Amino acid sequence: MHGIRISSLQIIKHPDPRLRKRSAPVEKFGDELTRLAHRMFQLMHENKGVGLAAPQVGLNLRLFVFNVTGEPGDDTAVVNPRLTDLEGESAAEEGCLSIPDVTVTMSRAERCTLTGHDLEGKPIRLNGVDLAARCWQHECDHLDGKLIIDHMSEADKIANRKAIRKLEEADRKR
Ligand code: NI
Repeated sequence: MHGIRISSLQIIKHPDPRLRKRSAPVEKFGDELTRLAHRMFQLMHENKGVGLAAPQVGLNLRLFVFNVTGEPGDDTAVVNPRLTDLEGESAAEEGCLSIPDVTVTMSRAERCTLTGHDLEGKPIRLNGVDLAARCWQHECDHLDGKLIIDHMSEADKIANRKAIRKLEEADRKR
């Protein structure tokens, strides 16, 4: 993270190649990591998201933030997350702050356990169902370079074609 102005980080959009990389484990806790997480909370809230992963601000680190209730006290950052005990299945529409105006019907485990560390390096262990479980699976996918557009049905492809083309054209102009 050396030389990066954390306060100027922004959400990057598909098809930025950084969204496709496998992110590396966080090895250093401290002030810089905390400032990064706080910038991510800020961007997540500004854009009315429920989760945001570090690759979405262009940093390929295994870190994500989430808040599925919208209550200020529920802001949670998870470092080096791992999902276990994935159970059940449910399908629902998902969006992604890096792929605006696109929604994809995603089949996810209905419940799972999230382990990892908080910003101080203390272990975290959370059990989640429904929206929380869905959010964690979505954010963990980001850390492995996977996006919801990898799972589009034929109907999703048709419905999202314009929005995806618009993003790809905007990228070519950059
Ligand atoms: Ni996303």
